[in-house]
Amino acid sequence: MLTQDQLKLAVAKKALEFVPEDAIIGVGTGSTVNLFIEELAGIKDRIKGAVSSSDASTARLKAHHIPVFDLNEVDKLPVYIDGADEINHHLHMIKGGGAALTREKIVAGVADEFICIADEKKYVTMLGAFPLPIEVIPMARSYVARELVRLGGHPELRQGVTTDNGNVILDVHGLQIMKPVELEETINHIAGVVTCGLFARRRADVLLLGKQDGVAVLR
Ligand code: A5P
Repeated sequence: MLTQDQLKLAVAKKALEFVPEDAIIGVGTGSTVNLFIEELAGIKDRIKGAVSSSDASTARLKAHHIPVFDLNEVDKLPVYIDGADEINHHLHMIKGGGAALTREKIVAGVADEFICIADEKKYVTMLGAFPLPIEVIPMARSYVARELVRLGGHPELRQGVTTDNGNVILDVHGLQIMKPVELEETINHIAGVVTCGLFARRRADVLLLGKQDGVAVLR
């Protein structure tokens, strides 16, 4: 029986097959991506560098002497490789467990292909058991929370967390997300919301799913 960490390592290794030669690639955030960065270090001479989705990943990339580019210097990213907190069968995701959702969504938006690396515990029929993270401008916190209650959720302020962009995170419990694209748009339209942790309008293109019997490649 493989542990969750062993499954994460298996998908991190598999992701190397999706790294194009001589390119700048997008790199996400989280414990699965941390393992991927370790693997990437072993082939760093084959890539030009990376665009990172968080200060934490930037520090790890730099520690391995992998060049990190500012997104504004780059107009093309063939791939973005990142984890997820939950992913459904349409490859819609909940992200933001590591509070990096806004930069993740920006880098993912630029990339031609989003490669999600996840272990089988995260593969679900319906999104929402994992509380949905929402990045909010601090002055709008109470207003946005009331609007989220109107949508049927139970928002909780993530204590002691300020995002890389200086904002707060509301984690919304109790949502059964039957229409991820619609809910993403509804939440994004609440004034004061910077980013909703639903990645449905821009879903993953490929899921590398770590299972007991190997890594499945799902599209
Ligand atoms: C970071 O903000 C998240 O979107 C991560 O992608 C997500 O939390 C996955 O992290 P793990 O790989 O640590 O589960």
